[in-house]
Amino acid sequence: MAVTTRTPLIAGNWKMNLDHLQAVATVQKLHWTLKDAGHEGDSVEVAVFPPFTDIRSVQTLIDADKIPFALGAQDLSAHDSGAYTGEVSGAFLTKLGVKYVLIGHSERREYHAESDEIVNAKVKAAIRSGLVPVICIGETAEDLERFGASAVPADQLAKALDGVSASSDVVVAYEPVWAIGSGQAATPSQAQDVCAALRKVLASALDEDAAARTRVLYGGSVKSGNIASFMREPDVDGALVGGASLVVDEFAAIVRFEKHVGV
Ligand code: PGA
Repeated sequence: MAVTTRTPLIAGNWKMNLDHLQAVATVQKLHWTLKDAGHEGDSVEVAVFPPFTDIRSVQTLIDADKIPFALGAQDLSAHDSGAYTGEVSGAFLTKLGVKYVLIGHSERREYHAESDEIVNAKVKAAIRSGLVPVICIGETAEDLERFGASAVPADQLAKALDGVSASSDVVVAYEPVWAIGSGQAATPSQAQDVCAALRKVLASALDEDAAARTRVLYGGSVKSGNIASFMREPDVDGALVGGASLVVDEFAAIVRFEKHVGV
């Protein structure tokens, strides 16, 4: 694999937490906490994924105060516009300055019956709208027992990328379902093995260049105490953080993982 520099991405998935007032307070506090700690913004990209109703408020704050965080959404419609009550189009998100969108998070797959086909349609919709899809994949505990760790996520990723052009900008988030919100993270070497396997899928579904430049994140019970060990792995390029992203000091410590990696 070609050696490249992939800027680490630390992404906070707030799920259905924090209203727009709490969102503004949280982003402000995170910004000041990182500044006070002397964190330099360039070496790590920070992204927050608030609920839809918070996005406009967070965008306004980020723009006004020149806060160097990227904005993400937690979902989008597979359609661009029309009679789809309750859905949000990728074009609307782009207009709000949104850069990233989570697609196929295990909670969407489980509670909203999102199939691999829907995930693929949403990935294409995101790219059409100029958004960067953060494609979430991962095996359940049963999958792990039956097929090992890589087979299901590799299959999900190949299906998500079906018909996607090799020049597309995407992010992959490997999140074992059994590790999400459980307090039981994968081990760094488990995460590395699967992330390396997913990079091979990127090479075959897209091309070698895409495999070398695309960031593959680990997610599932990431916290300040384990982030450095994940980030030491060569194929782990960042983290998708749920619960710990709601606690400002904890998320700021995760963003500052470099202090502990010893690079
Ligand atoms: P967790 O969630 O960090 O709370 O385990 C991760 C996620 O669902 O993205």
